[in-house]
Amino acid sequence: MRIVNIGSLNIDYVYDVRNFVQKGQTISSEGRSTFAGGKGLNQSIALGRAGVEVCHAGMVGPEGAPLRDLLSASGVNVDWVRQTDECATGHAIIQRDREGDNCIILYGGANQRVDETFVDEVLASFSAGDWVLLQNETGSLAYTIRSAKDRGMWVALNPSPVNGALLDCPLELVDCFILNEGEAAQLTGLDASASSPAELLAAMGERFPRADTVLTIGSEGSMCLSSGETFRQPARKVEAVDTTAAGDTFTGYYLAERSRGTSVPDALRIASTASALAVSRKGAAPSIPVRAEVEELLVSDGQAPAN
Ligand code: RIB
Repeated sequence: MRIVNIGSLNIDYVYDVRNFVQKGQTISSEGRSTFAGGKGLNQSIALGRAGVEVCHAGMVGPEGAPLRDLLSASGVNVDWVRQTDECATGHAIIQRDREGDNCIILYGGANQRVDETFVDEVLASFSAGDWVLLQNETGSLAYTIRSAKDRGMWVALNPSPVNGALLDCPLELVDCFILNEGEAAQLTGLDASASSPAELLAAMGERFPRADTVLTIGSEGSMCLSSGETFRQPARKVEAVDTTAAGDTFTGYYLAERSRGTSVPDALRIASTASALAVSRKGAAPSIPVRAEVEELLVSDGQAPAN
């Protein structure tokens, strides 16, 4: 069983702010940093640092070679990371406040050049029983979901960001959703502010009965609905420095553990520990821990290490 992630590669421009800018307002930032990011790249790095084989497929512009190199250095196969001279690498403008929370504006750039021909070329190397991991930051998402299912592959989707194109995708074909409360509310039509995590999870189960759903609940932890059974994992308490890529770290580690045959509760526990480490560090890709760090933290807690 192999894993391919057809996903975004971004350059993240992170601005430290006291409070997020409001409509009509101009504010000064307290600092700026540049990191490798993109939900796709972050999730592939998490899979690679978790120690499983993963292929990343995606598009960068002329200045995107360092993103490809970083993936490769994290143990990710980059044979399908292509460069185009026709547009810039995708980027994100991120405001990060003093609590470590963020607001993100995306520029799709080369990520939107992922077209059906490219998807066909990538998926031709995979077959029934392999996993494809997807987010909503690249082109041709609906086509990719259909093509992967036609090949008998398993589809894991982090439906972020939710927009009209995402809602038009054949989401009923997805085998595993990994998403946050806001995304679950948008997919099910519930009011996020008036619904408990348990209600959101149940609504996902009703709307997508054949899929597993993993719901991340920020500092409250995570829950999973799998084959009618509900699992809960409390979050590890850490001082939040930067929540960017916390969800991506969780997604990569969860899928890595499940692909190894780890049970749902243990996969949640390991993904939650990896995500806590990511939250305690600055940046997207640089914050993602390697598996030895996750194991060390579990052992220091007196918990059994990962398998
Ligand atoms: O999930 C965090 C990521 O979202 C950032 O790295 C940014 O590039 C956006 O894709």
